[in-house]
Amino acid sequence: MIHLIAAVDRARGIGRDNDLLCHISADLKRFKALTMNHTMLMGRKTFESLPGVLPGRPHWVLTHQADYHVDSPAVTLFHSPEAMCAAMKEGEDYFIIGGAAMYRAFLPLADSLYLTEIDEVFPDADTFFPEWKRDEWTETEREVHDKNNNNKYKFAFAHYVKK
Ligand SMILES: NC(=O)c1ccc[n+]([C@@H]2O[C@H](COP(=O)([O-])OP(=O)(O)OC[C@H]3O[C@@H](n4cnc5c(N)ncnc54)[C@H](OP(=O)(O)O)[C@@H]3O)[C@@H](O)[C@H]2O)c1
Repeated sequence: MIHLIAAVDRARGIGRDNDLLCHISADLKRFKALTMNHTMLMGRKTFESLPGVLPGRPHWVLTHQADYHVDSPAVTLFHSPEAMCAAMKEGEDYFIIGGAAMYRAFLPLADSLYLTEIDEVFPDADTFFPEWKRDEWTETEREVHDKNNNNKYKFAFAHYVKK
């Protein structure tokens, strides 16, 4: 199964200056729990925005650069989304973790969307989740978190499954 996982604001913003729009610690924990022991697929810029190679998860990184090199056995490089699809194995879960180019390429193939919906619009967002048609998806989960000392923003964990 192919899952897209993203934190989006109300205008589908996902990033700014090659960084996240905001850091929500509960979201980072959920990301870790969902992706642990599964392969994560990402664009080269998202890979470079990580603090490093994340433990316990193979990283598949998409780049056009033939001479791009990462010195880690956890990282496999690909040069097209099609090559990533060809490497997938039946019965396994794959998480598309961004950014915009990856979400665009894999949305038509996705079985589920794990979205953290931040109840805010960040006017300086420069990277966006693609438009998607809600009526093609069933919402199976929604957990609302209000603002508190740990969360500067109200947000909801939502899960949508393709009809
Ligand atoms: N809110 C969230 O959940 C979330 C999640 C992930 C990322 N983000 C944010 O999103 C931003 C980064 O996303 P982005 O869209 O700018 O970049 P990205 O998708 O992470 O990476 C783009 C790069 O991927 C490679 N690529 C893309 N399509 C390709 C193709 N068809 N064939 C070969 N290579 C291809 C290219 O690498 P080369 O240039 O090396 O060729 C391209 O420059 C950051 O701000 C990040 O923090 C947010």
